[in-house]
Amino acid sequence: MVKILFVCLGNICRSPSAEAVMNAFVKTAGLEDGIKSDSAGTIGMHAGHAADSRMKKYASKRGFDLTSISRQIKAELDFEEFDMIIAMDHSNYLDIMALDTDGSYKDKICKMTDFCTAMEYGEVPDPYYGGDEGFELVLDILEDSCRGLLDAVKGRL
Ligand code: 4NP
Repeated sequence: MVKILFVCLGNICRSPSAEAVMNAFVKTAGLEDGIKSDSAGTIGMHAGHAADSRMKKYASKRGFDLTSISRQIKAELDFEEFDMIIAMDHSNYLDIMALDTDGSYKDKICKMTDFCTAMEYGEVPDPYYGGDEGFELVLDILEDSCRGLLDAVKGRL
């Protein structure tokens, strides 16, 4: 079993979308018993809230159902529990690395765009304060990177 934690800032836009896209790809591949995904935010400001309604709308147009409820990352539990901790942008990556105070878990921490296969982005841009195209771009990058991630994880099963 490979356990993946997707992490963004608020856990209401990008990381719940990454979780939903990955779950859909894993289901299509018939690998539900081998790969489990969850998501969290580096901040707890939206903890207990459902995903952002704009993000949900654009995801659902592509067939992805965002069901997760926001929670803040808990370093002491999540670093042990998950095999891969995947940051959406560079700032999330630095925040997660800072929680790993003695560097014990640094090999588990990476960025979503490390798995892009067709698109050339260095991070999944924060769509929160922008327009519709930002949400579509998030989904474009996530569909591309989750495809690459699934291939990478298959090699570990
Ligand atoms: P997310 O988007 O990190 O993709 O969930 C954001 C959600 C909330 C805020 C910023 C980004 N915020 O400033 O509240």
